[in-house]
Amino acid sequence: MSSINQRYVEKFPASAELFEKAVGYFPSGITHQNRFAEPFPVYFNRAAGAVKYDLDGNETIDFVMGNGALLQGHAHPEIVEAVTAQVARGTHLGGNTPFEMEWADAIMRLVPSLEQVRLTNSGTESTYLAIRLARAFNGKPKILKFEEHFHGWHEYALPSQGNAPAASVPPAIMDMVIVARPDIAEVEEILKNDPEVGVVILEPTGAHYSCFPIQPDPFLRQLRDLTAKYGVVLIFDETITGFRISKGGAQTRYDIQPDLSTFGKIVAGGMPGAAVGGRAEIMEMMSFRGNPEWDNRRRIGQGGTFNANPPTAMAGIVGLKMIAEQPINERADAMAARLRAGLNDAFQRAEVTGFAYGIASLVNPIMGLEPTGDYEAPVISYEDRRAAMTAKRTGLLTKAMLTHGVHVMGGQVFMVSSVHTEEQIDRTIEAFESSLRELRAEGVV
Ligand SMILES: Cc1ncc(COP(=O)(O)O)c(C=O)c1O
Repeated sequence: MSSINQRYVEKFPASAELFEKAVGYFPSGITHQNRFAEPFPVYFNRAAGAVKYDLDGNETIDFVMGNGALLQGHAHPEIVEAVTAQVARGTHLGGNTPFEMEWADAIMRLVPSLEQVRLTNSGTESTYLAIRLARAFNGKPKILKFEEHFHGWHEYALPSQGNAPAASVPPAIMDMVIVARPDIAEVEEILKNDPEVGVVILEPTGAHYSCFPIQPDPFLRQLRDLTAKYGVVLIFDETITGFRISKGGAQTRYDIQPDLSTFGKIVAGGMPGAAVGGRAEIMEMMSFRGNPEWDNRRRIGQGGTFNANPPTAMAGIVGLKMIAEQPINERADAMAARLRAGLNDAFQRAEVTGFAYGIASLVNPIMGLEPTGDYEAPVISYEDRRAAMTAKRTGLLTKAMLTHGVHVMGGQVFMVSSVHTEEQIDRTIEAFESSLRELRAEGVV
């Protein structure tokens, strides 16, 4: 066993024990594919602010932050108060509520391109609904998505999403999804030659929280112009970037108006909730018109028992109000800038080739590649990225960092929050340097 694995096993014995039981309940013992870890994953049982605790009582500085949902940190007191008060007043009122409108208003104030919204329970549901709306609107069935871009786990999102095969997706659906590289000439070629393409969807800063970075400027503007030219609906999947890359998401930061946008995570203040919004004429594909042919056959339907459930709505209202009125993003971005600079120094001190980059409060480390000089959105080819960040490297980095008290999401991204402190960032940089030295000692970098 490698020494990193050895230290990991020694530090988390209670998790090892629980995992033995978990495999009896869940396939692979887990409830989300990204939580798969060998020889076992760590079990956490509470969190506050920027830290969380596992079953052995170890304190860990958290940069998974609810898979990116917790821009204000764990259990923010204002959000906890709003949610718990609402739980006591009812978790589901079986009808419309004023809270859903307040939540929608908070979303629409921050993202000017949204003329109407609908509320869902997850990013997956939102991209699924957005794709269906787009197709219904322009009558063209095919979807253009980008290699590795992740839009959840419904069938239209599965082709080339990186971490799971499109197993058992019917060929008829696979034929509807065209996968391209984020290269504007390639996109134009496809749109010019295939009039059936009606939708382009992307993660606007690049696949997997910018792990495969794109250069939003000028790519997003070029994509906007091309999709307008060919009558194709442009969807920004802002599940990660929404309210993080700027208060109004990637579209506000880069001043591009997509036709539809999808949100998850931060939109619901750390509770399970999400949204779809955009041009009213597209959103209206869901409206009842009083015409049975339309209402019962052509209208896009949306169900969802827990859509806009009151506790989630409350978390969304309070969380987004904080983002609108307080320097939440500014604080998170400043801590991320400190972390990015510190990680870059750590690469040099540990004499390991690599660098850290990222936009706003996303920090992406990459091992095995020389810095390009761009620490925000560097040009990195898919091939170089894959060769640099192998599963072995990211897996061992994750475990090495955990043994030093830091949780990095997938070994690939630090989701920085507004409550990380300078002292926690500096401890993280030290942990990173030690981890790099350990990876080097094991001949992994
Ligand atoms: C860009 C993007 N879209 C969609 C999703 C799916 O969201 P959810 O996990 O809420 O279904 C994710 C999840 O990480 C995501 O990163």
